Amino acid sequence: MTTSVIIPAAGSGVRLGENRPKAFVDVGGASILARTVASILAVDDLELDRIVVVVPAEMIGPVREELAGVGCEVVVVAGGAERSDSVRAGLQHVTGEFVLVHDAARPFTPVPVFRRVVAALRAGNPVVVPGLPVVDTLKRVDAQDRVDETVDRAVLRAIQTPQGFHADALVAAYAPDSDGPGTATDDAGLAERAGLPVLVVDGDPDAFKITTPWDLRLARDFAKGRA
Ligand code: C5P
Repeated sequence: MTTSVIIPAAGSGVRLGENRPKAFVDVGGASILARTVASILAVDDLELDRIVVVVPAEMIGPVREELAGVGCEVVVVAGGAERSDSVRAGLQHVTGEFVLVHDAARPFTPVPVFRRVVAALRAGNPVVVPGLPVVDTLKRVDAQDRVDETVDRAVLRAIQTPQGFHADALVAAYAPDSDGPGTATDDAGLAERAGLPVLVVDGDPDAFKITTPWDLRLARDFAKGRA
């Protein structure tokens, strides 16, 4: 059962405050995207068919050059305004039975996370996502920031990537007649709306997403420890 990986890397990174798209920011001598690609190639039993990298249009040439010769087939395509537009663009280029969608912005995702997702796909689950228990107390608030209720965190998970799909499940999630992402902020959310069961396996804190300047400082410290 072969696998393609879509890496959405077309985000502008406004919240990061660097003067370039997030995936191309340097973390300890390598771009966030280069580290993420390396972390995928480190999963030696993935049966990897190809990696589809989705980037801002002006970065297609440089990324093709940077990733040429990494040791697997890499397809580089232009992304869209929303993350879901970028994943949809990548989806046109996947091959194989399974598709992983993995944020470029999670460069330190450990190998066992990929393995847990793929093992559950191989066991027959059509959609599999890594998740972590929520440690903070969660409260629902109204428009004036007044607390409506305290939510039971025991039944909640913070969801990461790679999110794994039987290829036909991801195609169904992104079917042209689906009415846009709505409140879904991840690919599994679209699959849920299409009526597909979604299984959560254990994620890992190291798979954190670089979003804010604080995350970038953490990532740079992290890279020192791994250099
Ligand atoms: O913005 P956020 O951190 O949630 O983005 C998650 C991932 O989706 C990042 O790797 C980002 O580059 C990617 N993305 C994209 N196209 C967009 C927005 C985000 O590929 N339009």
